[in-house]
Amino acid sequence: MAIAPTDVNLYLVGFMGTGKTTVGRAVAQRIGFTCIDTDHEIESEQDRTIARIFAEDGEPAFRAMERHFIASDSRTTKTVVACGGGLVIEPGMPAMLRERGVVVCLHASIETILARTGRHRTRPLLDVGDPDAQARRLFAKREPIYRSVGTLILTDSRPLSDIVAHVIRVWKREAADFARARASA
Ligand code: S3P
Repeated sequence: MAIAPTDVNLYLVGFMGTGKTTVGRAVAQRIGFTCIDTDHEIESEQDRTIARIFAEDGEPAFRAMERHFIASDSRTTKTVVACGGGLVIEPGMPAMLRERGVVVCLHASIETILARTGRHRTRPLLDVGDPDAQARRLFAKREPIYRSVGTLILTDSRPLSDIVAHVIRVWKREAADFARARASA
């Protein structure tokens, strides 16, 4: 189905602590989109926290919920979707996101990520004896996937307004390509 470039969804991916939700909200406000966050959507659908879902059902069940959410959500236009950090790591997910819109990956150095994620302990994957070591391990394992999934935007020591302007520039360019590809499909 044809889509106007100005309506193409934006999927923000990246490791925990790269600013997906904060940047997503600011971008959405600037371009007149709705911003949703997959973690919040799943928590409200499930009526329990991500930590409880991990504890009660395990990580694979949570990954299945993320996949189901992306596959079935009806907000297919004019939406910025801030994705949980592990969502795009699962097989098939990068392609599923790219079929639905523009994918931008927010990135930061591991030092910045540790400083940002160290402030609160709501993330089950980092709720372990040595959260910094765990974050370093996960980051190293996932980094090649983040780097390959969509345009990478660095968020280290940059004002939010700069990051937002950069994300919007990339989204505009790639949304035009996306709409063109759809029209000729
Ligand atoms: C996860 C990231 C979290 C949340 C869950 C698992 C991950 O989202 O989905 O705790 O595997 O990286 P944020 O990236 O929004 O913290």
